[in-house]
Amino acid sequence: MNETIYQNFARFYASEQYAQFSAHMLEVFPALQERYGLPCAGRLLDIACGNGTFGIGMAQQGWQVYGMDQSAAQLEIAARRAIDEAVAVDWQQGDMREGVPAQEFDMATCWFDSINYLLGEADWRSAFQAAYRALKPGGYYLFDMNTIYGIMVHWQSFGTTIENTNPLLLEIHRNHADFEHNLAHLHITIFEREPEPRNGEYLWHRYDEIHTEHALPVERVTALLHETGFNVLDVLGGVMTGFTEPRPDSRRVWFVCRKP
Ligand SMILES: C[S@@+](CC[C@H](N)C(=O)[O-])C[C@H]1O[C@@H](n2cnc3c(N)ncnc32)[C@H](O)[C@@H]1O
Repeated sequence: MNETIYQNFARFYASEQYAQFSAHMLEVFPALQERYGLPCAGRLLDIACGNGTFGIGMAQQGWQVYGMDQSAAQLEIAARRAIDEAVAVDWQQGDMREGVPAQEFDMATCWFDSINYLLGEADWRSAFQAAYRALKPGGYYLFDMNTIYGIMVHWQSFGTTIENTNPLLLEIHRNHADFEHNLAHLHITIFEREPEPRNGEYLWHRYDEIHTEHALPVERVTALLHETGFNVLDVLGGVMTGFTEPRPDSRRVWFVCRKP
């Protein structure tokens, strides 16, 4: 079901606040490097790279970046941005559950709850195995995920929200949940107004996407990573304003893993 998302939405993802998350990850990255002894350069695989914010930022710092995402629309925007920024990034359409490139990477990242788009434990396992295969021995795998609390409690507390900060856009989010299977469905409806009137009338276009996220208990994710072969160096409850421990009401956690 999630295969059709981030097509029309990719344009709005780029123009609204969404890319701020990976921009923040770029800002905190030096602190992560220092804390875990991560490499300062090498080959980076950015899994579910979206419109390229993190990959482009890392390429600007000298990393050789390979950005992979399932959405052609996201990758098209990423490629245009890289050209504008005059950096070379290898963009490739692909599914994080399947073979990521048969190249050896020093680090793999997967930001902004992209892993939660995989809707069952078997898919999470496949994604971890694919990341593991892509890394060199000693390579690092870093990702964040929404917790069960995050999508089943915090998200659901929003009900329906309407964003209307841009006069040309009206974005409606409706949340509902399948509590039995830890699935959270976010219905996104966007109305976009044409900038100029036609025959004195403004036309609005409507776009709909349903983004479904799944969450697993932190302990289960840790166990899956161990079964894959990773050493889990740390699980953090916050990284944006200092590193903090996970808590029962952490909405998001960050994993720092290493292939032995
Ligand atoms: C919330 S966005 C995050 C994008 C980017 N990492 C960022 O931080 O801005 C989630 C991304 O995951 C991608 N995605 C979802 N399922 C995927 C899959 N199975 N394989 C690869 N990419 C996937 C979507 O196309 C989308 O670009």
